[in-house]
Amino acid sequence: MSTNFSSALTHPVFKVVSQIASEKGISAFVIGGFVRDLIIGRPSKDIDIVVLGNGLELAQLSAEKLRVKKVSLFKNFGTAHFAYKDLDVEFVGARKESYRSDSRKPIVEDGTLQDDQNRRDFTINALALSLNIETFGNLIDPFNGLKDIELGIIRTPLEPDITYSDDPLRMLRAIRFATQLNFKIETKSLESILRQSDRLKIISQERINEELNKIILADQPSRGFILLKSTQLLHQFFPEMIALVGIETIDGKSHKDNFYHTLEVLDNVAEKSDSLWLRWAAILHDIAKPPTKRFDKEIGWTFHGHEDLGARMVPRIFTRMRLPLDQKMKYVQKLVRLHLRPIALVKGTVTDSAIRRLLNEAGDDIEDLMTLCNADITSKNEFKVKKYKQNFEIVSLKLKDVEEKDQIRNFQPPVTGELIMQTFGVGPCAEIGIIKSQIKESILEGTIPNEYEAAYAEMLRIGAELGLKIEA
Ligand code: CTP
Repeated sequence: MSTNFSSALTHPVFKVVSQIASEKGISAFVIGGFVRDLIIGRPSKDIDIVVLGNGLELAQLSAEKLRVKKVSLFKNFGTAHFAYKDLDVEFVGARKESYRSDSRKPIVEDGTLQDDQNRRDFTINALALSLNIETFGNLIDPFNGLKDIELGIIRTPLEPDITYSDDPLRMLRAIRFATQLNFKIETKSLESILRQSDRLKIISQERINEELNKIILADQPSRGFILLKSTQLLHQFFPEMIALVGIETIDGKSHKDNFYHTLEVLDNVAEKSDSLWLRWAAILHDIAKPPTKRFDKEIGWTFHGHEDLGARMVPRIFTRMRLPLDQKMKYVQKLVRLHLRPIALVKGTVTDSAIRRLLNEAGDDIEDLMTLCNADITSKNEFKVKKYKQNFEIVSLKLKDVEEKDQIRNFQPPVTGELIMQTFGVGPCAEIGIIKSQIKESILEGTIPNEYEAAYAEMLRIGAELGLKIEA
């Protein structure tokens, strides 16, 4: 007896397509990610319908019946698309594809449903549900994809060498699905990916990023990165991260493996935040440790200045990886540059002025910086972690306290350049900048409060020192 999912296909789209397909005497099936997610119980808004026959006509007639006005037809590809309520519905003729070794672009011919299922990436993505009236909701599962969902296994329908060689992006997709769904990749697949990892070079960086960012946004992204490393896919597009791998020992002194440390920080951040760019900051926070690594006979391993060099590496990495070169990059850069600052406070005595300076530099990103910093407290020594976490709490409280008192986050100087010019009867000149930055220093240092009266008096004092006279 075949497994039937008709009770899950209650959406009007399926009824309408089914009815019209039957009137026209053609066969249609829901296929791919939608079926997979339906079985797993993940919400999905993309419906792919594969048609044996004229997919364009079926799309048009279904859209009319559903009163959808806009249907996009791609005659050259034999595909059609429309949006219905919050769903995206795509129609495509069943296809048979064959690939050449130097390109992702296949030679496409019309095919059977079986041909169409053969060309798909994984058994869990090759599941189809019939929309034909007599067999409505029947599962067509030639590769035991349902079983693989139950067992949590990523497996290719054909020999892995063929499936991955047809489209090397699938090597990344295997890892992406394994990470998102918490599935295992079958060993044969992993071996095949390792053998042909360098074929990723024919894939555009944008497509790589789409998968990479999905891995980064998973609940436990470290799982994906460990697979990316062991299959050597990471080597193809992120050598800086591979450089973090490894432990060196001199005179019995070792440093931690910065790759695994980075992944721990990334997972810690992922527990607290869904922000892609905060997660990128976690990935890059120690990226300059390899080039700054030194061994000192007295103190052991050091990575002096890795936060500054790391911040300088961010634009280079973003440019090469075609990540956005806008505010998002600036944000990541800022967090990388400042990531040691709260921890430095944690280790030493916490003065108000150090807190004010940090607030002033971090601005509205202070909470994210603190999340990153808290996530960065990793050590095998539980006692150390506990102590740092306690101190971290003290710094957090103090931050709140100072902020409430001083409102320093988005610092606006209480005395303007305009007022300085008026008071001393001068035009634009270097002294204005000097006065303003000295007032700011005094506020950050805590010698005067962040208030107009005090700042005005400070302006008069500094002006006098600079030899400026008050305008009568
Ligand atoms: N597919 C494939 N090879 C690829 C990309 C996609 O075989 N390189 C097939 C799979 O059957 C997949 C379907 O096309 O299920 C739709 O692809 P896509 O929308 O990219 O992914 P989904 O599987 O729907 O997953 P998600 O929505 O999570 O991206």
